[in-house]
Amino acid sequence: MRAAAAQQVPVCIWFTGLSGSGKSTLANALELELFRRGRRTMLLDGDNVRHGLCRDLGMDDDARHENIRRVAEVAKLMTDAGLIVISAFISPFVRDRQIARELFIAGRFIEVYVETPLEVCVQRDPKQLYAKALRGEIKNFTGIDSSYEPPLAPEMRIDTSRMGLEEAVANLCAALERVGSLG
Ligand code: PPS
Repeated sequence: MRAAAAQQVPVCIWFTGLSGSGKSTLANALELELFRRGRRTMLLDGDNVRHGLCRDLGMDDDARHENIRRVAEVAKLMTDAGLIVISAFISPFVRDRQIARELFIAGRFIEVYVETPLEVCVQRDPKQLYAKALRGEIKNFTGIDSSYEPPLAPEMRIDTSRMGLEEAVANLCAALERVGSLG
């Protein structure tokens, strides 16, 4: 199994951005396209991590540091096993994302800043969490009363209010082609 997987260059695609920015939509669409093209992938997001590996963690700053530390370590183990790992967490702090990046060989960590503006995310509010945060019913909500530190030098930026899903996935695949993960 490792030998087959070794034919693809393992890499971690790390989406970061506000709640509602489109991280999960992009991550799922990318994973589907990679599946179609015969790649072996693993998608890590809140749905499969915060209910299991990180279910003991809340949303204060220390818990977020620990959440991202664990996710990054798991992502590293999975790339060691030959997978293309897609990670979709707010990961709001520069330091945590830098620590994650340093686990990987140079060029094997692709940071994608999903830079959809806060106003758009608040307007979308798919889970009605911004509404609750603005009413003070949820504390430490990213972009409202908890900070988001934008990436200083991400490999890619995607504003999902300006770019369609198809074009975004094409750009992501092009980035994977450049590092040899897609032929
Ligand atoms: S972090 O900061 O990276 O540890 O967060 P993450 O694991 O990605 O979890 C974000 C999802 O949790 C929901 N949620 C909150 N988000 C931000 N702030 C607070 N206080 C909060 N409480 C719950 C929210 O639905 C996030 O999902 P996404 O997919 O990002 O919208």
